[in-house]
Amino acid sequence: METHEVAMTVLMTPDMANFSGKVHGGALLKLLDQVAYACASRYAASYVVTVSVDQVVFRQPIHVGELVTFLGSVNHVGTSSMEVGIKVLAENIQTRATRHVNSCFFTMVAVAEHDGKNRVAALELRTPEQHRRSRQAVLRRKLREELAARFASAAQS
Ligand SMILES: CC(C)(COP(=O)(O)OP(=O)(O)OC[C@H]1O[C@@H](n2cnc3c(N)ncnc32)[C@H](O)[C@@H]1OP(=O)(O)O)[C@@H](O)C(=O)NCCC(=O)NCCS
Repeated sequence: METHEVAMTVLMTPDMANFSGKVHGGALLKLLDQVAYACASRYAASYVVTVSVDQVVFRQPIHVGELVTFLGSVNHVGTSSMEVGIKVLAENIQTRATRHVNSCFFTMVAVAEHDGKNRVAALELRTPEQHRRSRQAVLRRKLREELAARFASAAQS
């Protein structure tokens, strides 16, 4: 596996269920954060923290007993920040039918031991897919900044 990618597969156990017997959204978010941490930390070779989570879309419920695979990829690198995109696939173990159940984007920042930020190595974009993901990550970053600026100006008016 390349240094900007990770894959993690977890069996959905009954302790992850909500009141309706499906997998709890919070249980999934915890696993997503772990994947984002592992992916960014491994790429940057540094301790990282989560600074934001965007576009977590629960497209379909996940059932207890399913095998869930998280495919994480560093899509874009700024100076100290990285956007990690995560695609989540749920597999019915008996039928092997696989569904795309969730996608989301984490911004992780590399931090040095004593509170400073760590510069992260530039991401090498080789495939058309990597270029597409990077372009979309840049657009998301611009939209986030625009939104923050608009909220700030609305707060002043
Ligand atoms: C992450 C953290 C160190 C950034 O500190 P900061 O003073 O905002 O630093 P900067 O403004 O220099 O931003 C650092 C990077 O984070 C990015 N960033 C900051 N706020 C962001 C936000 N809301 N969304 C996305 N990215 C953000 C900046 O764009 C910058 O990226 P770059 O280095 O690639 O240009 C600080 O916000 C922090 O410690 N947050 C808490 C993290 C944490 O505890 N996470 C666990 C939550 S339970």
